[in-house]
Amino acid sequence: MKKKIFSGVQPTGNLHLGNYLGAIKNFVSLNNDDENECIFCVVDLHAITVSQDPAILRENIHETVATFIASGIDPKKSIIFNQSRVSAHSEAAWILSCIARMGWLNRMTQFKEKAGKDKEKASVGLYSYPILMAADILLYDTTYVPVGNDQKQHLELCRDIAQKFNNDFKVENFFKVPEPLIQKEFSRIMSLKDGSKKMSKSESSDLSRINLTDEKDQIINKIKKAKTDSLPIPSSLIELNNRPEARNLIGIYSSLANSTLESSIQNFSGKNFSEFKKDLSEILIDKISPISDEIKRLLNEKSYLNKILEDGYKKADNIASKKIKKIHDIVGF
Ligand code: AMP
Ligand code: TRP
Repeated sequence: MKKKIFSGVQPTGNLHLGNYLGAIKNFVSLNNDDENECIFCVVDLHAITVSQDPAILRENIHETVATFIASGIDPKKSIIFNQSRVSAHSEAAWILSCIARMGWLNRMTQFKEKAGKDKEKASVGLYSYPILMAADILLYDTTYVPVGNDQKQHLELCRDIAQKFNNDFKVENFFKVPEPLIQKEFSRIMSLKDGSKKMSKSESSDLSRINLTDEKDQIINKIKKAKTDSLPIPSSLIELNNRPEARNLIGIYSSLANSTLESSIQNFSGKNFSEFKKDLSEILIDKISPISDEIKRLLNEKSYLNKILEDGYKKADNIASKKIKKIHDIVGF
């Protein structure tokens, strides 16, 4: 039996190094393993939980597909589609919202962060967003969900929803209870300006992140301006642990070099940050620029991107429409 892999990325623009190292790089290696059946979804329904300009959203959907392909996901091997095309996602989300409990959702920290101080003004969609995410995953009998660390709590909620549905309707194993796939290291890339905040699309300062579409000189400039401390690079992990900015930059280097923090520390120990930053910029340009060039090239080939989405839609809809029929049956419709 092949392992079923499902993950989603929001088409909200500014895909950055955190998305790449925390999630997309992992998607590529899963795609390359013939033991896996992979589905990568552009979650446009999730994107509208905060307000979006329709023309920009349309462009960002293409950009997300282009980023998947440019990073190395093969659309012949993996299903790539956009969520809103497959109506089973919205339908299943409603049914599962009658299974999930208010108390469970009230614990979601991402909602609290995203809604900020004025929760009364947040959309209802932003609140119930993890239920839609559970629908995405459960419709495809997913075994593994590769995500960054920030999605761990949503995955736990998805597991709770699956188990409650199976128990309530006495349909053992109807929904497969999925496992998160979170990389042990580098699953949380931090802002270049503040090592205590995660790198994010929504952070106002562009200097806080490396976008996957940044030009070489932008990368060099952002790394030059990235926050560090005045000490040289230490010789042990323990010394690095209470220096969040230093740890983050060395983590980024290690992840790009496919090496460990330990071996990077050995390489750079005793050097100062200006020297290290040159090597970091170099490896970033080496790994990110080809992706960036390919994204830009693909964005001029809209018909190719649309064809990928169309093929993906047919394959995904074929799976999801069967599952939603069974859900209707179980619920008593
Ligand atoms: P999003 O852009 O929020 O849809 O996130 C897409 C994927 O990137 C998810 O799997 C996130 O967990 C992951 N991700 C987003 N930001 C970061 C970050 N700063 N570090 C690691 N992974 C991240
Ligand atoms: N909520 C995820 C994020 O913001 C995106 C997402 C939606 C997702 N549906 C999913 C991730 C299903 C994994 C599986 O990053």
